Amino acid sequence: MSLFRRKPVADLQAEAQRDQSLRRALGPVNLVALGIGAIIGAGIFVLTGQAAAKYAGPAIVFSFVLSGVACAFAGLCYAEFSAMIPVSGSAYTYGYATLGELVAWIIGWDLILEYLFAAGTVAVGWSGYVVSFLKDLGIVIPAAFTSAPYDHKATLDAGWNIWRLFSEGWVSTGAVLNIPAMFIIGFITFLLVLGIKESATFNNVIVAVKLVVILAFVAVGLAYLNRANWQPFVPPAKGPGEFGWGGVLRGAGVIFFAYIGFDAVSTAAQEARNAQRDMPIGILGSLAVCTVLYIVVSLVLTGIVSYTKLNVPDPIAVAIDSVGGGVGWLRPIIKIGAIAGLSSVILVMMLGQPRIFYTMSKDGLLPPVFSTVHPRFRTPWLAQILTGVIAMLIAGLFPIGLLGELVSIGTLLAFAIVCAGVFVLRFTDPQINRPFRTPVFWLVSPLGILFCFALMSGLPPDTWARLIVWMAIGLVIYFGYGRRRSRLQRPAATGEIAGR
Ligand code: ALA
Repeated sequence: MSLFRRKPVADLQAEAQRDQSLRRALGPVNLVALGIGAIIGAGIFVLTGQAAAKYAGPAIVFSFVLSGVACAFAGLCYAEFSAMIPVSGSAYTYGYATLGELVAWIIGWDLILEYLFAAGTVAVGWSGYVVSFLKDLGIVIPAAFTSAPYDHKATLDAGWNIWRLFSEGWVSTGAVLNIPAMFIIGFITFLLVLGIKESATFNNVIVAVKLVVILAFVAVGLAYLNRANWQPFVPPAKGPGEFGWGGVLRGAGVIFFAYIGFDAVSTAAQEARNAQRDMPIGILGSLAVCTVLYIVVSLVLTGIVSYTKLNVPDPIAVAIDSVGGGVGWLRPIIKIGAIAGLSSVILVMMLGQPRIFYTMSKDGLLPPVFSTVHPRFRTPWLAQILTGVIAMLIAGLFPIGLLGELVSIGTLLAFAIVCAGVFVLRFTDPQINRPFRTPVFWLVSPLGILFCFALMSGLPPDTWARLIVWMAIGLVIYFGYGRRRSRLQRPAATGEIAGR
């Protein structure tokens, strides 16, 4: 039964009250901005174009709606948890409080797929825009050093042979490494080790730049819409997951990546002035703003250029190019906006990952090295450097499509477990004070789970195989290490990081 030992919610609430080591400086506007800062990134600037070109065509808009609905359900559940247990461990801690240690470990291990792999994915997107921007300035970085040495082609006859799906189909692209992607991860790791504070003001500026660039794209794009590009709106199916409604579902699983980040608001719970009121505002507010933007951007994108031309590293810039004429001035602005915007997503993801390692290590589920705090910088520097090195390798070696799908499937699993947690806790601990209550939870939680699994089902078998192998490795580590060393019985440690 020790697998299901839980951290009592009352203890966590008391701990959150007691622990004042992080400055409570964020109000509702900052929290919404934090969410938008973490959300708008490679998903909209890169993956939208690729998902439209490969899977859904103009119907990528429906993919965004579908994914947005799944996120709305999960967002409501996150809002309930983060107002009730305002601590920085996020979904990992919610899992510990509701479904027990094993599930908490699974979520924590799974969140690595979200934060660490997302940082790598977004870095590849960053590289695409930087390379294209430098090219406009006449600086050409040889292609061998700007893309991944490996790509993956699905092994079609492998059925559900997990090992074959995992190990076969790797092809060499002839490139050496994606150096710019590795550079940005290294640079951000360096800043984070030094203890750079992701100040709300800095984030607000980046968010403003991102929003202005996106709104400028929409405003200009609306003037150049060509309805012929929307015909047919749902291109006829070519194969499983390729166009047709199957493609819309697959596209939804892929562009789900674009929504990831609203949950990162919950990791700032201990820095919110009034977490009980403002966490739901930050999570749901940022999600709502981004959903509307994504639907409009994807309509405009596929309306000004044929979706068949969008399988490129910088689709928004390509779309503007295709318009030609007098809008050339927008091209560098879009690229600068994308580069700045993607940097902030990487920063938030790279900041979040060591915090989760830190919490897991404090709980005894990971070795103490993960919670070693630098005496001068007061950052979890070893965990930060390890995160950086792994993210660098990921960003340097793998293509964005593969990484994005892996991040999506991992995050969807975490969201499904959070939805399940809200449901379970309503029955196991009905008396707890819930400042925000998920409306009609008996419907919203199960629908959240259902939608998350529906989106996961749209992702290809090789992505599932990677998730399964990842989880199997995680279980080996838990049973080999964390289970015996869990500190649940001892007094909880309080946070010591001055990360933000
Ligand atoms: N949602 C984030 C992005 O699109 C992860 O880059």
